Amino acid sequence: MRQKKGYVIWLTGLSGSGKTSIGQEVFLELKKRGYKIEFLDGDIIRKNLTKDLGFSRKDRKENIKRVAYVVELLSRNGVGVIACFISPYQKERDYVRKKSVNFIEVYVNTSLEICEKRDIKGLYKKARSGEIKNFTGISDPYERPKNPELIIKGTKPSDIHKNKNIIIKYLSENQYL
Ligand code: ADX
Repeated sequence: MRQKKGYVIWLTGLSGSGKTSIGQEVFLELKKRGYKIEFLDGDIIRKNLTKDLGFSRKDRKENIKRVAYVVELLSRNGVGVIACFISPYQKERDYVRKKSVNFIEVYVNTSLEICEKRDIKGLYKKARSGEIKNFTGISDPYERPKNPELIIKGTKPSDIHKNKNIIIKYLSENQYL
């Protein structure tokens, strides 16, 4: 199927909020339907493109700036991008918005309490004990999006399915699909 225009689905939220699970579902569904689509995820990008960076304010800024460059190239060439990054600062999210063609900010609004209870990667425990410094939500800030295009919630498999459909519906209604 031919893509009408490029766009960026930017999923922002705490670690363990469900960004990757939702993003992956959307990616797979659109790929299956034959659209030109790419998936960028914090944990993967940080193993290659931004391997040299940590989690200081300066490094997080640089991380998002490099991702913004990739997102700019893809979206202006008619590719749909699904990007999952904590991206805790509004300033950096606004920077990517400026660089992107059709930026769609999606706030994955899972509470710190739930993320910490799930603690899928065991990082919250390490952050609480001080083993990891500058951990978002515990010892580092997260600025909630001021004006996101979408706000989604929930981490159960049925929520992931529901949230995938909310995003697909948005894309469809706004003539991206
Ligand atoms: S961002 O803040 O620069 O946007 P990014 O999304 O790339 O973050 O990476 C976040 C992932 O790195 C988390 O999901 C987690 O697995 C891991 N991580 C390791 N240390 C930290 C930390 N101090 N704060 C947040 N995430 C961390």
